[in-house]
Amino acid sequence: MKVDGIAYRSIEPAEDGWSVMIIDQTLLPHRFARVRLASLDDAARAIRTMQVRGAPLIGATAAYGLALAARADPSDESLEAAASALLATRPTAVNLRWAIDEMLAALRNVSREARAARAYARAREICEADVATNRAIGGHGLPLIRAAHARKDGPVNLLTHCNAGWLATVDFGTALAPVYLAHDSGLPVHVWVDETRPRNQGAALTAWELSRHGVPHTVVADNAGGHLMQHGRVDLCIVGTDRTTAAGDVCNKIGTYLKALAARDNGVPFYVALPSSTIDWAIADGLASVPIEERAPEEVTHISGLADDGRVTRIRLTPEGSPAANHAFDVTPARLVSGLITERGVCAASRQGLLSLFPERAGP
Ligand code: MRU
Repeated sequence: MKVDGIAYRSIEPAEDGWSVMIIDQTLLPHRFARVRLASLDDAARAIRTMQVRGAPLIGATAAYGLALAARADPSDESLEAAASALLATRPTAVNLRWAIDEMLAALRNVSREARAARAYARAREICEADVATNRAIGGHGLPLIRAAHARKDGPVNLLTHCNAGWLATVDFGTALAPVYLAHDSGLPVHVWVDETRPRNQGAALTAWELSRHGVPHTVVADNAGGHLMQHGRVDLCIVGTDRTTAAGDVCNKIGTYLKALAARDNGVPFYVALPSSTIDWAIADGLASVPIEERAPEEVTHISGLADDGRVTRIRLTPEGSPAANHAFDVTPARLVSGLITERGVCAASRQGLLSLFPERAGP
């Protein structure tokens, strides 16, 4: 996608042919800056500190992290240590494990001399595949927006949570891919953007993306969605996911579940967009089995923003001494999900639905 007329991807090889450029998402929306990753440690730190975030981008960064590790030391021991270090960065997005498994499988029977080149090639393939996947998700999601438009006058009002746009992927996004396609094809759309406390990925990142692309949108407090739905002001919800179980349960940014409940109560369709790399085929019960990341309480007790003097400032919101808890994700049970938008089409949020699109996963 373009920023000020220049096309960027959220991660891409640098001109030197071996290091990797990312957008430092901790600085947005107030500053757009790219950062160079030159080592495994840089890649692991970028994921841990959320310079990069969003399930597909976490996976893509881990893939390049392994390539950087292979360039420094292609031994089995080095790659295993690199895989463990990357796996420890963030627990919930299953794309991390998926990308690491893909990389290790690609390097398994490759000589030490050829490993770095193979690792870079596989990381590039993973990134290109993510872009193609997201384009396909956009194509499959677009008819849902068209159908909503056919039912009403005026723009289709969508609601999204967190950031599942191009910043969360290599390009295009998942939940926002159909929105961008709709907008670009002249369908009138307007997006309600949940601010997404505590890290405000909606207010900071989704709003920034949409504004750069000229998509009409309004940032709302996280608690506003239910009210908007009660008053008929949301036609369709589309969100992303960090891990989708084989039964169609969806683990996504904290607060997604409450939006799904409000959507069900108000008859608003609630769709989840996902690349198949986000499906954890090994688990069926999201509530019991998905590891939920708990992050620093300071993300709840403090907030950063642009002060009137033009400086980015961090301030405390809560009384000194009040404990805070920071559960970063929740699980929306499949029964609350109207459908899953994947690169192979839209299916029911159920084991049967997923297997109808991915029959190779049915097992013997
Ligand atoms: O903590 P984050 O910012 O990595 O969480 C991101 C989300 O919850 C996204 O909705 C999800 O990764 C899907 S991104 C296409």
